[in-house]
Amino acid sequence: MSNLLLIIEDDPGLQKQLKWSFNEYEIVIANNRSEAIAAVRRYNPSVVTLDLGLPPDPSNASEGLATLKEILELAPATKIIVVTGNDNRDHAIQAVGLGAYDFYNKPLDPEVLGLIIERALKLSKLERDHIQLLQQQQNIQNGIIGASPQMQSVMEITKKISPTQATVLIIGESGTGKELLARAIHNLSTRADRPFIAVNCAAIPENLLESELFGYEKGAFTGAVSQTRGKIEYAHGGTFFLDEIGDLPFGLQAKLLRFIQERVIERLGGRKEIAVDVRIVCATHRHLPTLIEQGDFRGDLYYRLSEIVVQIPPLREREGDVMTIANALLLRNCQESNLKEKHFSREASLALENYDWPGNIREMENRIRRAVILSTSNTISAKELELENLADNPMPFNLKEVREVAETTAIKRALNHTDFNISETAKLLGVARPTLYGLFEKYGIKL
Ligand SMILES: Nc1ncnc2c1ncn2[C@@H]1O[C@H](COP(=O)(O)OP(=O)(O)OP(=O)(O)O)[C@@H](O)[C@H]1O
Ligand SMILES: [Mg+2]
Repeated sequence: MSNLLLIIEDDPGLQKQLKWSFNEYEIVIANNRSEAIAAVRRYNPSVVTLDLGLPPDPSNASEGLATLKEILELAPATKIIVVTGNDNRDHAIQAVGLGAYDFYNKPLDPEVLGLIIERALKLSKLERDHIQLLQQQQNIQNGIIGASPQMQSVMEITKKISPTQATVLIIGESGTGKELLARAIHNLSTRADRPFIAVNCAAIPENLLESELFGYEKGAFTGAVSQTRGKIEYAHGGTFFLDEIGDLPFGLQAKLLRFIQERVIERLGGRKEIAVDVRIVCATHRHLPTLIEQGDFRGDLYYRLSEIVVQIPPLREREGDVMTIANALLLRNCQESNLKEKHFSREASLALENYDWPGNIREMENRIRRAVILSTSNTISAKELELENLADNPMPFNLKEVREVAETTAIKRALNHTDFNISETAKLLGVARPTLYGLFEKYGIKL
């Protein structure tokens, strides 16, 4: 409750005076530490005034400081204003060091204390509003963390396309959150209360994939003992997510194309056409135009699937997202393992920021999960993340060396991006093919 003020004070005269001075608040009084803790649990006050001299020995601040610590452990966001006797400046400073919001020296001047309380309440409200806003934003983003301009524009496109029925192709390197985005599209669509069914084309052997997608009738093949619906049928009314579409065997591509055009399926061994209403979302980390060029992917299917293309940028290109995501993942991991909150050391943050993240957020999840299990203290080090400690290894200042490192990184990145297509890579880097071959040679890049 925002208008509630908890006053922890053992002197009945002062209690009365405070109650009278701050009658615009709903006042709760606690006489000692145990009453104070009970009141914090019960009312969760935003602001507390705490007399450091509490019973059993009011001449000593130890009970007051212990109360302070206990409240902050229970409710870290509480703004605690410590009230001390005139000659007790050291204790007041000690209290602020422990996390008190401010201190106030007796004798009581209601006007001054009133201003401090008012300011504490304002700050507390601001903090709560801020947290609420962040939570709202996260909900809207369906667990997709990140405030970089790159991800904001992905989220904007997502919000626009989700309510439509358009087929969506999501492209991005492995671990960039393609499946997470597919689920977000479903959750933001009118089909959100219907099924979201995912099939990973790369994970299922070709001979099983067809029946997995389309289902089969009893007796369609040896072992087909009963009629079985396919995944597409299960998605009826909802969203069908075809993951790793670049790995869909060529033979099945024609069959999928037919389904997309006609919106009917036939189970294996069946003769009946079954109409299915699904929204199709697919994803791949591969470069489909190259696969088409090589004859491994049908151009007509590609054009059908790519009505709308959403490209998720790799983590290393998202400005400012690395630490936001890392901190969120660290907090989530600690909570899931019932551990006290941990933090990254300064050199760990530096290492996280400077690492290239070839495996993107999935790799980050793995590194952080492992570090949380291994770490014995509240701080996670670069070593526990198995990242290079850059503090030990300063950046080279030699220009030639810097240029070589930068060029090698850019070339490798472009190669990955184009699935090792040389002419695409050369185009992306803005150099001619012979120059590119020269660079491969110079930096010992093997294809
Ligand atoms: N922006 C993000 N915020 C928080 N978690 C994320 C984010 N992006 C991805 N993740 C998490 O990272 C992991 C990998 O995401 P996801 O499986 O969606 O990626 P993918 O692109 O499909 O990867 P792959 O190519 O490995 O299949 C998941 O556990 C996902 O929850
Ligand atoms: Mg995936």
